[in-house]
Amino acid sequence: MAATADAAAPDLQLRPSPLLEVSDLRVTFGTRLGSVHAVQGVNLTIEPRRTLALIGESGSGKTVSAQAIMGILPRTARVSGSIKFKGDEIVGRGERELRDYRGRCVAMVFQNPERSLNPTMRVGTQIAEAVGCHLPVSKQEAHDRAVELLRMVRLPAPERRFYEYPHQLSGGMRQRVVIAIALACDPAVLIADEATTALDVTTQAQIMELLLDLQQETGSALLMISHDLGLAASYAEEVIVMYAGKIVEQAPTKELFAGVRMPYTQALLDAIPRIEMEPHVLLPVVGGRPPDLAVIPPGCSFAPRCPRVQQDCQDTCPPLQQHEPGRWWACWHPLGKEPAQ
Ligand SMILES: Nc1ncnc2c1ncn2[C@@H]1O[C@H](COP(=O)(O)OP(=O)(O)OP(=O)(O)O)[C@@H](O)[C@H]1O
Ligand code: SF4
Ligand SMILES: [Mg+2]
Repeated sequence: MAATADAAAPDLQLRPSPLLEVSDLRVTFGTRLGSVHAVQGVNLTIEPRRTLALIGESGSGKTVSAQAIMGILPRTARVSGSIKFKGDEIVGRGERELRDYRGRCVAMVFQNPERSLNPTMRVGTQIAEAVGCHLPVSKQEAHDRAVELLRMVRLPAPERRFYEYPHQLSGGMRQRVVIAIALACDPAVLIADEATTALDVTTQAQIMELLLDLQQETGSALLMISHDLGLAASYAEEVIVMYAGKIVEQAPTKELFAGVRMPYTQALLDAIPRIEMEPHVLLPVVGGRPPDLAVIPPGCSFAPRCPRVQQDCQDTCPPLQQHEPGRWWACWHPLGKEPAQ
């Protein structure tokens, strides 16, 4: 996965064709209080069998970007730019065409399994419905595929679980069912939007391992969305950091953690608890608040919160640029790049 812009890395020719190519994606919501610029020029590519993490604070535009990719934005959203799946444009497609694309090409797992599941329906029936929605299968075939999917997501006794209701399962089991629904039609790209946030740490790790195993089994790509940079460090090959609707840093995970450039990414990193920390030590928090996306100020949108801010940051917005092979950042005064004295 890589940011798509003019400065292509030399190894790109060796990379497989991307499944998804998002270019200059912009999403604006018309609200009573004015236009909310939720996503402002996002570029990314998603390649088969790779895991990309989209990280950022609440309100940075992660979910809206994913909703645009899924084609599930509300009518109040104005979308521009391009989203191509295997070369075919998605932006501007009608609902009927999108129905075929969703589920088979791209599927999404949401944060809260309670919201994704119908409490009055057996879990197996919900999976079988998802199968039947997209594939021309008989009732029996949909049933068999649902049991197979329950087995795939490592739910014990899948034949029995098929007939259970969501309330009879634990939170982790319910999230496995939601993943089974997303996998019903073998999507090429799976988007997991805070898919493990509501779960305890052990279950969170189990679900992440499951998603990675399934990715290897099915050859799909995984776009994991989280506010937790630690989660990205453990599971993603590449990390994209968003702030106020824009990508502000992007790098292969190892290189990012070897030397963060953006002060905002550093603040997110400092907020990760570490095993070597003294107990009861308060974690640093990113002070201040993100900007109002209805009023875009000139200059860097992180400036009011940034410990490295200088006058030029307030005058001109730093563009996202590739400064080293595969490493992108949008900052006039990046960490680790201080001019020699
Ligand atoms: N339907 C909508 N109408 C108006 N504004 C919206 C709508 N949906 C999202 N927004 C705004 O778009 C911005 C980005 O929202 P988004 O849900 O993408 O954030 P996020 O990064 O996913 O945050 P979180 O970590 O809390 O899920 C926010 O300012 C949000 O208020
Ligand atoms: S451009 Fe300036 S204000 Fe923005 S992150 Fe970099 S140093 Fe901080
Ligand atoms: Mg979100």
